[in-house]
Amino acid sequence: MNKYLVIGNPIAHSLSPKLHNYWFKKYSFFDSIYEKKKVEKKDLKKIVEQIKNDEVKGVNVTVPFKREIFDFIDSSSYEVQFTKSVNTLVKENDKVVGYNTDQEGFKISLEENDWDYKNKKVLIIGAGGVTPSILSCFINEGGVEKIYLSNRTRTKVEELKKFWDKALGIYQMNKDTIEIIDWGEKSELCDLIINTTSVGLTKDEKLNFDFSEYNNKKNVLFYDLIYNPKETNFLKDARIRGNRTMNGKMMFLWQAHLAFKMWTGVSPIIDEEVIKLLD
Ligand code: ATR
Repeated sequence: MNKYLVIGNPIAHSLSPKLHNYWFKKYSFFDSIYEKKKVEKKDLKKIVEQIKNDEVKGVNVTVPFKREIFDFIDSSSYEVQFTKSVNTLVKENDKVVGYNTDQEGFKISLEENDWDYKNKKVLIIGAGGVTPSILSCFINEGGVEKIYLSNRTRTKVEELKKFWDKALGIYQMNKDTIEIIDWGEKSELCDLIINTTSVGLTKDEKLNFDFSEYNNKKNVLFYDLIYNPKETNFLKDARIRGNRTMNGKMMFLWQAHLAFKMWTGVSPIIDEEVIKLLD
């Protein structure tokens, strides 16, 4: 049996097993199974060893270990070098390699929405585990005019800015591209506002930002990386204001698609059926 895992803590909520097992069945990998496993930090080394000795074929890593796992792997992809965020482990030539498919998953989800990076202004709210992947996407793709960052704990966005300010030159971007705004403060009007925080996972939670200036701004996209619940207050308010909205489901599907392809060589189709599977 080829065993695959998603590891994290908590992990009960993860929809990855449902999705990957559906694809294993669909593409006739009858000897493959994908399970979720709640782990502690002390277990990470062992998980990597299990991949090395073929007890486990592939692993997805989720909150809060996307950064911590980095210390135990043999090498990592270009995206991981920049984001220090690993969500997929693969064995290649006896080495355990860490990949980040979140960044590419996010990119595809935007492009599916006909997103053009050119001269756009973006507000990224939050500085948790997934935020570096989002920031890295915009900087790697280039073209955005401005990136505003805001987080309840300001030091975390300051660290992100410090790191990425150094990289801006390499990407031939303006050195003032990244700007921090205080938590809850207004930035100039943006074209895309992304919630990368966990605020909204519980129904009543709400970010304390005043977005009233976005009333009837039909082209502005409010993107919440949360996909369960389907419509957070952040998205509900945006819909009522007349903005475009999008939740994190397509990003989740695409990051999984990319991991599945790395493990099996098969590109699973993302169709209505698989989109509904996660409802
Ligand atoms: P991760 O493991 O992905 O880093 P996290 O530590 O729970 O997850 O944090 C995710 C993000 O949600 C962070 O930006 C966090 O803000 P802080 O850095 O200030 O902790 C944000 N977040 C979580 N709860 C929040 C709340 N009640 N209000 C505002 N931001 C919150």
